[in-house]
Amino acid sequence: MRYTVTLAETGETYPCGETENLLEGMLRLGKKGIPVGCRGGGCGVCKIEVVSGNITTKVMSRDHVSEEDQAAGRVLACRAFPASDITLRVIGLMKKNVCRTKTQALAA
Ligand code: FES
Repeated sequence: MRYTVTLAETGETYPCGETENLLEGMLRLGKKGIPVGCRGGGCGVCKIEVVSGNITTKVMSRDHVSEEDQAAGRVLACRAFPASDITLRVIGLMKKNVCRTKTQALAA
């Protein structure tokens, strides 16, 4: 099953399979400079907030995702999988690279 993930900040969308984590799908957008970290839930750079839709998650470090965070839909993209079409906001360190526009990227 494949779902559509929408980035709330830019309106961009990407497809993401239910067995593929949200970070892997996001990387296919081809944005330059996304600081991909550990890809295993340990570094926190890929933190996102799910605005709408359902996800499933694997174990995440409490250093980066508190119980409060998790209850509010703030999770690590590399440990989260879509269970429906979803909309998310990037809140981790990779935000400026994922959310900048082409114009900003050229100016950088
Ligand atoms: S890439 Fe390190 S926590 Fe997601």
